[in-house]
Amino acid sequence: MNELPPTGASVFGAVHLGYVVVQSNRRSDWRRFGADAIGLHVDELDGGALRFRLDDRTCRFLIERGPAEDATTLGWQVDDHETFERIVARVADRGVPIVEGTASEAALRGVERLWRFPGPKAIAQEIFTVPLTTPEPLRMLSSGWVTGEAGLGHVAIVSREPEAMRDYYRTVFDSRLSDYVDENISGLRMKIRFLRVNERHHSVAIANIRGMKIDPIRTRVQHINIQSATLDDMLAAFERVTELGFRMAWSVGQHTNDRELSFYSVTPSGFELEVGWNPVVIGPERESTWEPTTYRGISIWGHTPVGDTVLGKFAQFRQALRSVTTPEITVPQLAEASAGAGHVVPVVHSLRSRPGGDLR
Ligand SMILES: [Fe+2]
Repeated sequence: MNELPPTGASVFGAVHLGYVVVQSNRRSDWRRFGADAIGLHVDELDGGALRFRLDDRTCRFLIERGPAEDATTLGWQVDDHETFERIVARVADRGVPIVEGTASEAALRGVERLWRFPGPKAIAQEIFTVPLTTPEPLRMLSSGWVTGEAGLGHVAIVSREPEAMRDYYRTVFDSRLSDYVDENISGLRMKIRFLRVNERHHSVAIANIRGMKIDPIRTRVQHINIQSATLDDMLAAFERVTELGFRMAWSVGQHTNDRELSFYSVTPSGFELEVGWNPVVIGPERESTWEPTTYRGISIWGHTPVGDTVLGKFAQFRQALRSVTTPEITVPQLAEASAGAGHVVPVVHSLRSRPGGDLR
């Protein structure tokens, strides 16, 4: 009857962040920011989209035209077909719609085929097995970026429903908790959960404000992280961001938990891009004995805020107030670790179906 493979066996280690889709109308700012400041390879596509390359993949960032000024989609590479079917079954068995992307969407993202399903905070999740690579040499200011087994980098999201988001990634990708950080940022008590799906210390970080269901961040992602190959690359990118007049959010510092050295700059769409170097890798030998701990404070040193403005604070406050009255979008069917086929919770949030089957 059920020809799908069992959904129970873990897919941990076989999932890697592959690409990020950003929707923006600030194309020339993004081109300057990505290529001239951060030091990525940029390809300008017919039709107005931009693509950034970090390695031999044809696409790691797709900047498509649109008004969101936000990261709208995460693309996850799945190692093999059996793992892929297992993930599809987990989603479909719980009554969550999963649709194949169009050929042109796949081409834009540099993958052979892709499937899309809704994610928490309306960040669409896409999965694929075959990325497209190119022999075209990289033309970029950086010497290289660390991707490979650890994937593209990580995504940090502020959530008012952090447990639901954690459970979602556990249900879909068998994510594991690496650690927690408790920190005070701008006078708010934050808790951050760091989730890994492979040897990268975290592919998803979920931050929430303790004791209050508020979200001061306009964008769905607070930051996206990419990893420089060398310390010199990271520092040179830091200099260029400042020299070219892009905003720095947090200066260079070192994180307590994954020990990554990094800085945070503000992208033309308003969320931040963290450029890091040399984070702890949880390889097989560490994986077997890893125990989550709680760190007090996110940084050992540095990461001091740069150019905090009164207007910026006011915008965050307004956003926080707005967030009190609009519930955060969750995908409850996938946030319930024990839910199985036959116990399907109705979809309670609105799935907007757009031309081309775009679920947000
Ligand atoms: Fe980060």
